[in-house]
Amino acid sequence: MSSTEHLIGRADVNDLEAILSITNTDVDELVHAVEDNADAIFTWNYEKGERPALNKLYEKAKTSQWNGETDLPWETDVDQEQVVLANAAAGAGLDDGMDLTGTGFEHWTDQDWVKMGIESQNWTLSQFLHGEQGALLCTAKIVETVPWIDAKYYAATQVMDEARHVEVFAKYLDTKLSGHYPINSHLKMLLDDIIDDSRWDMTYLGMQIMVEGLALAAFSLAHQTTPDPLLKQLLRYVMSDEARHVAFGVLSLKEYYAELSQAEIRERQEFAFEAAVRMRDRFLQQEVWERMGIEPRKVLPLVMASPQRALFQQMLFTKIVPNCKKLGLLDAGDGWLRQRFGELGVIQFEDWQDTGEEYDAFALSPGAGSDDRRSA
Ligand SMILES: [Fe+2]
Ligand SMILES: [Fe+2]
Repeated sequence: MSSTEHLIGRADVNDLEAILSITNTDVDELVHAVEDNADAIFTWNYEKGERPALNKLYEKAKTSQWNGETDLPWETDVDQEQVVLANAAAGAGLDDGMDLTGTGFEHWTDQDWVKMGIESQNWTLSQFLHGEQGALLCTAKIVETVPWIDAKYYAATQVMDEARHVEVFAKYLDTKLSGHYPINSHLKMLLDDIIDDSRWDMTYLGMQIMVEGLALAAFSLAHQTTPDPLLKQLLRYVMSDEARHVAFGVLSLKEYYAELSQAEIRERQEFAFEAAVRMRDRFLQQEVWERMGIEPRKVLPLVMASPQRALFQQMLFTKIVPNCKKLGLLDAGDGWLRQRFGELGVIQFEDWQDTGEEYDAFALSPGAGSDDRRSA
């Protein structure tokens, strides 16, 4: 059993100095290699439908494919400044209602805040893009490593979905926004840890349950709030796929975890906690403040104390916590993960709907042609 310090490199999850000490030092690298340490598994049992829930998901995926080039309204003009102003008007203002006294940027003009908002859009979409590539690689790995044919079939459809997600986020960034950011170091560390692990179920836990569970919640929030009709529709389409992906994780691990020992379950609890902390750290978007010429350690204590921020951070866990509960990870052993999620302030979502069946509610209209879909 590991201590918090051993798992995440610090004893206090809110230790800002420790969070900021992790930075991306390879911002100019073009490729990044990670050992994936796993055996590729053949199965000679081709019995389709032995796992009916996975088979149903696979059949659903086959008829839910969309085309990122032709199904989205790419002709839409995106005015980033107007998006920032509309978000500020709908929320707590350009400065998000923070008390800036003594921070060195209490004299920022509206123009400075608009610039910050635009950088924040560039950063957010860049991290979505990098996370999508992580999903593409992880799911390709699952095709190789999972021992069940129904899961290999389903994972193959997810590989195609993730290629499409990488494609549309990259196109949106290139043609509608005004700059890219390299991958955030906390996200990179998490993706590396997921790929590096030799156990096939850890890929699912890290990606389908944690990263995609958070993505589904983050995309839902952005979908509800963005005034840009192109991004709104793009996210709606991506979410219809992500809900299936999270269901794939829940349905697969539910069966597998029933066979594991207490000690093995504890390792899964610890991995889920580490992933939760890494994802929370990444949302501090330290690189945006740096690009704006502000020392992150000066402003982030204010950001961390802001009620809007706390609420946003909690909402990111609305899918993860009920899914961990459904998998038995919250209460196994001495309730170790329940206690950790309590410390992170997210345990209150434990009885929200899990994502095992929720994908039907996220589906685009069944059998619709492109014209219908464009108004989805
Ligand atoms: Fe995706
Ligand atoms: Fe996904």
